Amino acid sequence: MTIMKITVKKQNLIEFPCDLLVVNLFEDLPIQKGKRVTLGGGISAVDKALGQMLAHELVEEGIKGKLGENFVLHTHGKIPAKKVAVLGLGKRADFNLETVRRVGAHLLKLAKRNNAKRIGTIFHGVGIGKLAPCDAARALTEGVLLANYEYLTYKGDEHKKESSRRALKELTILDLDAGKVRQARQGIYEAEINSQATRYARDLVNEPASIMTPAHLVEHAREITKQSGGKIKLQVFDRAECRRRGFGAFLGVAQGAAEEPYFVHLVYRSSKKGLPRSARNDKNKCIAIVGKAITFDSGGLQIKSDTAMETMKLDMAGAAAVLGIFSVLKELNLKYEIHGIFAATENMPGGRAYKPGDIVRAMNGKTIEIVHTDAEGRVTLADSLSYAAALKPDLIVDLATLTGACMVALGEEVGGMFTNNDKLALKLGAAAKQSGEQVWMLPMVSEYREFIKSPVADVRNSGKTRYGGAITAALFLQEFVGKVPWIHLDIAGPAWAEREILPYVPVGGSGFGTRTILEFLKNIK
Ligand code: BES
Ligand code: ZN
Ligand code: ZN
Repeated sequence: MTIMKITVKKQNLIEFPCDLLVVNLFEDLPIQKGKRVTLGGGISAVDKALGQMLAHELVEEGIKGKLGENFVLHTHGKIPAKKVAVLGLGKRADFNLETVRRVGAHLLKLAKRNNAKRIGTIFHGVGIGKLAPCDAARALTEGVLLANYEYLTYKGDEHKKESSRRALKELTILDLDAGKVRQARQGIYEAEINSQATRYARDLVNEPASIMTPAHLVEHAREITKQSGGKIKLQVFDRAECRRRGFGAFLGVAQGAAEEPYFVHLVYRSSKKGLPRSARNDKNKCIAIVGKAITFDSGGLQIKSDTAMETMKLDMAGAAAVLGIFSVLKELNLKYEIHGIFAATENMPGGRAYKPGDIVRAMNGKTIEIVHTDAEGRVTLADSLSYAAALKPDLIVDLATLTGACMVALGEEVGGMFTNNDKLALKLGAAAKQSGEQVWMLPMVSEYREFIKSPVADVRNSGKTRYGGAITAALFLQEFVGKVPWIHLDIAGPAWAEREILPYVPVGGSGFGTRTILEFLKNIK
């Protein structure tokens, strides 16, 4: 990938030399043929410099300013910029931080279409939109960088060359206010970190399952550890070690796979002392982030249908988010202890595969009756959550592509959130909002516990009814977190983009959850 430089500069935009200068337009102006239109802000400055050519063309072309709508004009040497583009922001009443992220994505697409290498633009939403310059710059940068993602590993050279030929090289936000410029720098930096982590997660999800095996996930964990300058430590348990530790649930799922399973535990500590929080006896917060890590979910013996299996390399998206987050932790300077935990295996129908009717025992001692081999995620999480809870953290957050039922409830774009601690979940909800990732809280309906009772074991791994499947799955997980404050994110829908619904999430792995958790980590005290 060609590196893109995003900067902010104190300069008058009409003096800025570039291929394309992008200004914006809200949808609220009454633009009608035959009538003069009064423009404000950046667009009016450019319009003046172009001798009202812009206003004239807008009216002629019937441009309304709908979100993503755009219009490009040659400047014929009237200003140093070769072309000017007007990008629609939509209605003022609908405008928010997320609009700016989408504007960033549209801006990138506009650049590519016009083969622009250097773009100048203004702050979007800082004037009338009332956003802080830091937030606006962050959202814009995220939109640009996330929309610029392409998974090209297996594409031919021709395609790769074409992609870098069309790449945007430099984007500069221009403003005359030195204070705004300074604040924006921080926003751009944060966006670069967020996007880097998200792209990391996307790459892991998009890689075919035959390459992205449990062992390969371990390689990534090792590399991240190596790059952390001593701030991250890594423990990896193989099958034998998992057996010694009593991870009977995880190993049950792993039985049918030829690929070796691995249990991975990363620890980030801001100081290099290396001692766990308990041993240091300090008050720093301790957070465990747990990811579902099924590198391929065939369904096991109760095998999935052809179409249901097509995208099942995505079933490690929870762990991909964990690794994405850990890949940038050293940049964030957080003062807490953060644990990243995942139990990686395939779910396959091999000759040794676990069977319906089997009973497995998780690390916390609870037994699980296997009713459905395709409800494997929760079985592996039984051990990862038990292990996380045993660390006695202040909070466990898990990310799991857990149930099709959650997609039925919330659709492809929204993650389901479950918790035993509403206050913390609200904070995570706020972080999600800030990140532009949608999550919605679903209830832990205690009456439904009935549906995961088993006559022969402590719990069964699949509900007695299909209805409320995301909830019964969450209730199952709760059996393994004890009293530790816990938030479960069912990301089965948004982890994978089946089509491009958001302009900055291309088809494939989305990296969903990565930015929300990073934002959440920055804000908890
Ligand atoms: N990995 C799937 C959930 C999933 C489905 C993720 C679609 C992403 C897209 C999970 O392991 C699974 O198969 N769940 C079953 C549970 C059922 C058998 C109780 C499901 O949701 O159908
Ligand atoms: Zn499954
Ligand atoms: Zn699964």
